[in-house]
Amino acid sequence: MRYIDDDLKDKTILITGGAGFIGSNLAFYFQENHPDAKVVILDSFRSKETLSNGNLKSFGHFKNLIGFLGKVISGDINDKELLNSLEKEYKFDYIFHEAAISDTTAQEQDLMIKTNVNAYEDLLLLAQKHGANMIYASSAATYGNAESPQRVGYEAPQNVYGFSKLCMDNLSREFMKKSTISIVGLRYFNVYGAREYFKNSTASMVLQFAHQMLSGKNPTLFESSDKILRDFIYIEDVIFANIKAMQPKRSGIFNVGTGKARSFQDIVDILQSELGTNLTCEYIPNPFIGSYQFHTEADISSTKEVLGYESRFELEDGIRAYANEIRRIYNQEVEK
Ligand SMILES: NC(=O)c1ccc[n+]([C@@H]2O[C@H](COP(=O)([O-])OP(=O)(O)OC[C@H]3O[C@@H](n4cnc5c(N)ncnc54)[C@H](O)[C@@H]3O)[C@@H](O)[C@H]2O)c1
Repeated sequence: MRYIDDDLKDKTILITGGAGFIGSNLAFYFQENHPDAKVVILDSFRSKETLSNGNLKSFGHFKNLIGFLGKVISGDINDKELLNSLEKEYKFDYIFHEAAISDTTAQEQDLMIKTNVNAYEDLLLLAQKHGANMIYASSAATYGNAESPQRVGYEAPQNVYGFSKLCMDNLSREFMKKSTISIVGLRYFNVYGAREYFKNSTASMVLQFAHQMLSGKNPTLFESSDKILRDFIYIEDVIFANIKAMQPKRSGIFNVGTGKARSFQDIVDILQSELGTNLTCEYIPNPFIGSYQFHTEADISSTKEVLGYESRFELEDGIRAYANEIRRIYNQEVEK
């Protein structure tokens, strides 16, 4: 379903991080709903390179793009020469910037700031030169354990990832003052949905619990999981917010959540009913106390007002919409 009237005919759209979870969903949204738009994906894709926590340095995967007909470029956003060559070769109308070290547990502060913040500035300069709208991924991690509901302007990041996203927002505000292009930062809360599987252990707990349960294992939760609350948001709502952010003159930083906090226990309970299981939950002590978000809930009032966004998927709706894909991925991708 098309979310804006403009058919985007002859428009050129750059999606950085387009081989990742959210970027690839955006790419397919345009392909399906705006076939006359030209979509260019820039992604470093995965190699065997890992971070010190053992996770992959970048999660992009070709399988997220099977069926995508646009241009695909493998490259690093930190590569200034590559960005210069893109600047000459294309004239972008919109840039959706999703590329990042997306792993919230990454410890490499140098790489995180370089990739998430410094490369973003180069992309903002490119957007400015092309007169392109910039729509970029910020994060609820900027809030850390700030009081709920989280509101823009009240941040307290607890890790370098959250800090890097806050630096992106600050940089964006500086550009908004001096630039005429539209710059929209979207602070996604906890996103789940199709094409997240290749994020491995950083994929959402919706998928991780579901696959645990489909394999017949009892779901393992942290103690008091009924009191650990997050604003879980379905991918289709995230795509909707991105497309609404394309409207002219909407610059700003906005939360993208449902506006409702739900518990990890809720996820498991809904999955039991969707997957037809009746497994016994097991509880383990939470090793992350002190560096863990216990209650996130997006204040989405300005997102509604300025972007015309509203969340259309409560947790029950999102998991129901996702259930077949969860099973397909389990049957086709998970090694048993
Ligand atoms: N998924 C969530 O719940 C969530 C929540 C808040 C914010 N975000 C942000 O949304 C954006 C997209 O997240 P995602 O969940 O799709 O993660 P993802 O890891 O699937 O996507 C990020 C993509 O960026 C690519 N990438 C990484 N480093 C790169 C580099 N140096 N040059 C080029 N490409 C590079 C990766 O290969 C990957 O395909 C990220 O900026 C992330 O921080 C995600």
